[in-house]
Amino acid sequence: MSVPLRIACLGLGQRLAQVLLHLSRVAPSISCVAYADPNPAGLARLERHGMRPRSYADPEAMLRAVRPDAVMIGSPNHLHRQHLELALASDARIFCEKPVVRTEEESFEVASWLAREPQDRVVVGLVLRSLPVVAAALARIRSGCLGSIISLEANEHLHPEHGGYLRRDWRRLRRFGGSYLLDKCCHDLDLLNAITGSRPVRIASFAANRIFTPAHAHLDDGVRYRSWPSGWSGSERVFDAAADTADTQVLALEYGNGVLGTFHSNSHVVPPRRAWFVAGTEAALAVDLRAGRLEFTPADGAGESATEQFGDGRTADHSGADPAMARDLAATWLEGAPFPVSVRQALEAGLTVMAADQAAAAGTVVDLTPLWKRFDALWT
Ligand SMILES: NC(=O)c1ccc[n+]([C@@H]2O[C@H](COP(=O)([O-])OP(=O)(O)OC[C@H]3O[C@@H](n4cnc5c(N)ncnc54)[C@H](O)[C@@H]3O)[C@@H](O)[C@H]2O)c1
Repeated sequence: MSVPLRIACLGLGQRLAQVLLHLSRVAPSISCVAYADPNPAGLARLERHGMRPRSYADPEAMLRAVRPDAVMIGSPNHLHRQHLELALASDARIFCEKPVVRTEEESFEVASWLAREPQDRVVVGLVLRSLPVVAAALARIRSGCLGSIISLEANEHLHPEHGGYLRRDWRRLRRFGGSYLLDKCCHDLDLLNAITGSRPVRIASFAANRIFTPAHAHLDDGVRYRSWPSGWSGSERVFDAAADTADTQVLALEYGNGVLGTFHSNSHVVPPRRAWFVAGTEAALAVDLRAGRLEFTPADGAGESATEQFGDGRTADHSGADPAMARDLAATWLEGAPFPVSVRQALEAGLTVMAADQAAAAGTVVDLTPLWKRFDALWT
């Protein structure tokens, strides 16, 4: 992996600093040479590791002057659409952080551009697709050893420090982040599509701001909920934040192939958790994504159960997904290997989340059939 590859960043925040540091470890020939960001939250971290990208005030001028091999988009979610448009007008390959965009309208607009682009010109940072336990679980599911998948449950629960950060960061406002579910759980809804090999056709959901309210202000010790630094458009208020996003959400889903599922997310839980339980006719699969552990149990009681452990169970770096995604990205950019998730699947995950938010807002079951018909027509 020694071909030089020059990156320019549109938005150089905390996330892209993390991705760039892992990329530089697996592929030293890849370097970040420029960025456009009015207040780059990730720059100091890059500088501590000897990287000195050049600052540009105007993103278009940067792309014209630098002519980068790759553009990385790490701005807040509401800017992804305009940054994708800019990057697509250059010759560069593109890495865009998840979610691809923030609204259904933007998803369709961007899909109409991306359907005409070569495979993997645009890749999306759905980092859990690179997690070894996820790859192993999906391989088992695709081998058919579960029989027909009948139903599943999944969750993502955040520890209180993380929940407090979401309350103080730009993500607390729908106009920047989209929604709690979109910013935090589009990974999970993408993975449920991968497990079922399908997409939801009906979704019901309830979402609420139930934790971070004045009624629970006694929990605030002034330190815990502010231990993660907030950045662009941040605030220090937690239990009385000027926020319009949920902090808790549940979903019920029916997939196109008949699989039934539930998803539950709460942003104030000890210990934090991210897990699946998938029940098939021949076997069940339990996956702890944080611990990197998978348990396979045959339904007949006679077949062989299996437990597999990936990594050392430490939860740093998204339980090892960050270095794994850096290897996948370097292999895609330097060797032409396929990235583990396509931009079309990333858009489908976003649209799934948006339908769940629509169901929660309207208090109705949303039928996604017309949405997928319209979406699929763009890719034929
Ligand atoms: N894949 C993951 O696991 C993961 C994890 C965290 C964040 N993310 C995603 O990464 C993106 C960035 O999140 P973050 O946590 O780094 O946030 P952040 O607040 O640390 O970074 C956002 C950056 O965008 C910059 N910015 C604001 N306005 C801009 C503009 N007009 N032009 C250019 N830059 C601008 C800010 O100054 C800041 O440096 C989001 O889309 C988020 O959803 C993904």
